[in-house]
Amino acid sequence: MPIQSTSKIWHNGQLIPWEQATIHVMSHVVHYGSSVFEGIRCYAQPQGSAVFRLPEHMQRLLDSARIYRMNLPFTLEELCAGVVELIEANGIAPCYIRPIALRGYGEIGVSPKGSPVEVYMANFPWGKYIAGTGGADVCISSWNRLAPNTMPALAKAGANYMNSQLIRMEAEANGYQEGIALDVGGLVSEGSGENVFLVRNGVIYTPPLANSALSGITRDSVLTIARHLGFTVTEQPIPREMLYIADEVFFTGTAAEVQPIRSIDKILVADGKPGEITRKLGEEFFAIANGLKPDRFGWLTPVNVAATEPVTA
Ligand SMILES: Cc1ncc(COP(=O)(O)O)c(C=O)c1O
Repeated sequence: MPIQSTSKIWHNGQLIPWEQATIHVMSHVVHYGSSVFEGIRCYAQPQGSAVFRLPEHMQRLLDSARIYRMNLPFTLEELCAGVVELIEANGIAPCYIRPIALRGYGEIGVSPKGSPVEVYMANFPWGKYIAGTGGADVCISSWNRLAPNTMPALAKAGANYMNSQLIRMEAEANGYQEGIALDVGGLVSEGSGENVFLVRNGVIYTPPLANSALSGITRDSVLTIARHLGFTVTEQPIPREMLYIADEVFFTGTAAEVQPIRSIDKILVADGKPGEITRKLGEEFFAIANGLKPDRFGWLTPVNVAATEPVTA
């Protein structure tokens, strides 16, 4: 889906016109992938709108920057306030928010020290990431996820998404909607832009972060909801074949939200219908995000914009 432009973009603390948020082709980031970013959603509420887990996302942006020795000249509070200011200035909700910190125009050497750090934030409407109403048909990718101590998987860095692009393009070329990558040890890691969960005999499993997975905010939300609903949850290494014999498999992510998986490598997940536990977790997730149930975990930051879409769980 093409990006829908809005009126303003937040740049280093100022709101500037969308068209003026440009960078030079010789910027460090263009040549060496030196950016860290976030993807955040703002949901419709019965009265107004709210950003889902804003401080957690901004903390992850600061963490990603720290890993890459990138000093962001903004505090967590300033970044969060910037998002609220941006959404209210553009008056668009529900929406997707994309903050990015990058190494700009300065020097051409690989060392980024001589290139200034620039922070931008944009917001725009963005609907469902994985199309269709049933479960997704996915494959196991022939590409592995990032090996430990090569590209840090806990940093949400632009460069990591070259690996994600390979996974996603291969899946689409072969007629699948998404790919699940294994880590270099052959254990389940994650999708190109989602964490992965499975359910077997009533127990919920997801790979630990040590299997080269991003510490997904939605992953954490679903783990929290699952524990709260009384399910047994285990973060443990998962062999590939456990996906084929699972009762339920689903993705989590800000873009994908809670997305049931129908088949993996053309093997149906159980009877191919979204499973009961996936449904319960998804329902609870959307009920909280959309303000239909109390915000008992303190996940919502209200913004003063009337949502343009009705709230449906
Ligand atoms: C590689 C990867 N894994 C997992 C996720 C899910 O993370 P989150 O739930 O924080 O969006 C994403 C999305 O940001 C991602 O790009």
